[in-house]
Amino acid sequence: MALQRDFSSILIERDRVAQRVHEIGHQITNDFRRAGVNIDDPQSPDSRVVIIAVMTGAMVFVADLIREMPVKLHIELVAVSSYPGTSVESKGVKMKTALPSDLAGTHVLLIDDILDSGQTLHALQGLISQQKPASLRTCVLLRKPGKAKIDVKPEYVGFDIPDEFVVGYGLDYDGLYRNFPGIAVLRV
Ligand code: IMP
Ligand code: MG
Repeated sequence: MALQRDFSSILIERDRVAQRVHEIGHQITNDFRRAGVNIDDPQSPDSRVVIIAVMTGAMVFVADLIREMPVKLHIELVAVSSYPGTSVESKGVKMKTALPSDLAGTHVLLIDDILDSGQTLHALQGLISQQKPASLRTCVLLRKPGKAKIDVKPEYVGFDIPDEFVVGYGLDYDGLYRNFPGIAVLRV
């Protein structure tokens, strides 16, 4: 694939990603059941499941993950932009689309591609919590070590990876490489 010339290595092959996504999908489904979420009766007001996917990076992950979850669920997409650097730490994230406003009493699963500084997920968790959902859990495909100044602990993590810039499976560099089916390290 022509894309691959720009990579120094493939960190995670597509088959391993698929296997892990399959596992997480089942884990999430089982946890919903265990938590008493009546996932078979979406008419019941306390059983509404809402996936909130952070665009654009989580696009591929979410598309695969939801097909591993035999659950009646709603999907909402949110777009955020993060300011690079740390000078605006407390306000480092700006919503580019509004969050859904009807999350009270629902079971929310927030999904992003990668946890790096934690800014994005911390900000979204805060905003979602204000609406008093019945539960809020967070899922990321990838997590980088140590750097997070902000303490964000996702319930579901696909892979812990080294502190390198990765692309593929939804993750981009300058808008490119999202369509590579595995996770690759960009050649610098
Ligand atoms: P955080 O707010 O610092 O946790 O950043 C999370 C966001 O930064 C992700 O949603 C990605 O868009 C982006 N990001 C962080 N690390 C990488 C990477 O290695 N490759 C591609 N995007 C990244
Ligand atoms: Mg992103």
